[in-house]
Amino acid sequence: MTDEEKAALYENMKIRHAEFKKNFKTSPEFPVFNFPEPQPFPAGRMPDYKLAANQFNLVVAENECKMGSIYHLGPDGKPVFDFKMADRLRDFAKANGQDMRWHTLVWHNQSPDWIFKDEKGDKVSREVLEERLKNYIFTVGDRYQNDICSVDVVNECISDKNYILRDGADRSQWFDILGPDYVDKAFFWAKEAFPKSSLVINDYNLEIVPGKRQGMYDLVKRMKERGVPVDTVGLQMHINIENPPVSEIEKTIELYGSLGLNVIVTEMEISVYTDKEQNNGKFDERREYTPELFEQQAERYAQIFECFKKEAKAGILKDVVLWGITDRMSWKNNFPVPGRTDVPLLFDGEGKPKAAFDRLTK
Ligand code: XIL
Repeated sequence: MTDEEKAALYENMKIRHAEFKKNFKTSPEFPVFNFPEPQPFPAGRMPDYKLAANQFNLVVAENECKMGSIYHLGPDGKPVFDFKMADRLRDFAKANGQDMRWHTLVWHNQSPDWIFKDEKGDKVSREVLEERLKNYIFTVGDRYQNDICSVDVVNECISDKNYILRDGADRSQWFDILGPDYVDKAFFWAKEAFPKSSLVINDYNLEIVPGKRQGMYDLVKRMKERGVPVDTVGLQMHINIENPPVSEIEKTIELYGSLGLNVIVTEMEISVYTDKEQNNGKFDERREYTPELFEQQAERYAQIFECFKKEAKAGILKDVVLWGITDRMSWKNNFPVPGRTDVPLLFDGEGKPKAAFDRLTK
């Protein structure tokens, strides 16, 4: 970001913070909330910039390549594309000799509202939505197909309730309007639009919840039988310092490998909160970040990366991506408990390497 952009973003954050503070109601779901004031960004380049350039060989945008960031409705009712931020990341990757992944084409979250509506604001027809999605996938492919090594074609399509495709009642307007074959269709279009990229179906908790893991297995097995060009399962791996056991991670990677699919880890971080009581509406209180805790986290990263190395040697695991660079910018600072903060990554808030970084690189 330039300093002007940072200043504009900071102003915007202050407004949103004030609105949020005014409207926020505590609930069992969000018991801890201390309204941390937004801080101005330091002048010049953020520590993350240098680290991103020097410590990683692959980049992915945390939000800037999602449909809601790119696909807008113009004043004439026609779609308009905003590729400014995605272009910037592409240029960054090129300048640093890095690969770039695309996250994500189809997802029930962070899609623009207009896409599901007709001119009257009612639910749009299947034909129109299909055309809009197709137009999106092909326009993005036209611009980026030569720059993208892998694409998350469909994100988070397995329901946590019954482990089959997430439907309208489970917040997928894609399923609701297009029906269950939207997943296959998206992959066929993506294959044409991104002929050189590997095509990923990406989801969370596959290494944690055996039923969901099996649900994804059943889905991709049937997709392959139908000739749908899915070649990779993406494991998001938003995991924590205790769970899941490494053996479950290994089992998950090998399960998808047994179908002849590749696996990539797409959004890994290791939270220091286990939130074991979250099903009863109770989340852990903020903990003290001691050197012992960072050692424990380092040990956990190291054990999991041993498994990754084994699965990479076996030819199944192709990439491991961390969901963020420094703890300061991690989305876990506001999820699942807004404002609790977390320290899940390899670099601390100032960009200094943590114990986990030392363990993985020694
Ligand atoms: C998260 C981003 O990290 C946040 O900045 C944003 O506010 C919400 O989305 N699964 C995904 C990611 O596939 O796109 C999500 O990223 C984290 C969970």
